[in-house]
Amino acid sequence: MSILDNIKDKAKAIGRTVVLPEGYDERTIIAAKSIIEQNLCKVIILGKTDEINKLAGTHGLETSKVTVIQPENAPDFDEFAELLFERRKAKGMTLEKAKNLMKTELYYGAAMVKTGKADASVAGAVNTTGNVLRAALQVIGLAEGINTLSSCFLMTLPEFLGEKDKTFMFGDCAVLPNPNAEQLASIAASTAETYQKLVGDEPRVAFLSFSTKGSAKHADVNKVLEALEIFKKQHPEIQADGEMQLDAAVMPKIGAKKAPDSTVAGKANVLIFPDLDAGNIGYKLTQRFAGAIATGPIIQGLEVPANDLSRGCSADDIVDVSAIAVLMKG
Ligand SMILES: CC(C)(COP(=O)(O)OP(=O)(O)OC[C@H]1O[C@@H](n2cnc3c(N)ncnc32)[C@H](O)[C@@H]1OP(=O)(O)O)[C@@H](O)C(=O)NCCC(=O)NCCS
Repeated sequence: MSILDNIKDKAKAIGRTVVLPEGYDERTIIAAKSIIEQNLCKVIILGKTDEINKLAGTHGLETSKVTVIQPENAPDFDEFAELLFERRKAKGMTLEKAKNLMKTELYYGAAMVKTGKADASVAGAVNTTGNVLRAALQVIGLAEGINTLSSCFLMTLPEFLGEKDKTFMFGDCAVLPNPNAEQLASIAASTAETYQKLVGDEPRVAFLSFSTKGSAKHADVNKVLEALEIFKKQHPEIQADGEMQLDAAVMPKIGAKKAPDSTVAGKANVLIFPDLDAGNIGYKLTQRFAGAIATGPIIQGLEVPANDLSRGCSADDIVDVSAIAVLMKG
């Protein structure tokens, strides 16, 4: 069974609810139909009711099987606008501005998740990543103990050292260009947690670098070491080590040679890249040259989940991300 099928099975078993804010996009409607048919989770679609009904008719979605909400007409609209106003008033938000933002499906969807009326929000087929993340940060905010929103990719290699469908979690590959040591430690904490939630195995975290255990001296290496130190203090229960090169992290023989005393070297399954250049290039190299399936970006670090999509996504991608997103809730 593929990791994605496994994730879908887990999602089915816990019976959660996803809110899809981009109801005016036909991929959302096709995805909603598929989610319902597969019984993955319950679906709330946001947008203008007549527009959604029309699209639903075209694509054979029975609207009685989903919940359709037009934000500005919803009974909780004022409560949600107030929530946003309270959260952001110190940053210059007025109630009027909050009401205008709450009329947008992205903000309303985030408020549904924040208040527990849905378990996860999935958008970005139409909206930019920046808009999806900004709404999530403003309405939902970060999880306790986490200082940055970040992302990870679930990478499935067809074969690695004789093991079929080998999975790794890579973080951060899509959000934060230049994390400092504290942020890198938070990225590692979020990525380890995401690995545990989605894959189910114990995470073994490698803080990647161009140096292994002092083989090179540089300020960039020091940042990685500092991040590891912070992480270990905050999460003594999670196996983590560094700084180490990629080969030392994942190849047992090289790990044994370059970092003989490490419990992580050669066995890492969560790979933390020192910055976004490395993370983004690293996941694309693995995807394009090694034929890995890259599932993500999975947005992490929020108090409750809101996930982004690529604007080039298919309806099937929305289905897959919905299954992942509902599992991201603690
Ligand atoms: C997250 C993001 C939307 C913030 O954009 P922005 O609004 O222009 O950023 P600003 O620097 O003006 O910050 C706005 C607020 O978000 C917060 N913020 C920005 N990045 C953050 C992060 N990674 N984690 C937590 N908070 C963050 C800032 O602290 C600020 O908070 P405040 O308003 O409470 O003071 C932006 O960094 C982004 O678009 N990231 C995604 C990058 C991307 O497109 N990647 C490729 C696609 S996969």
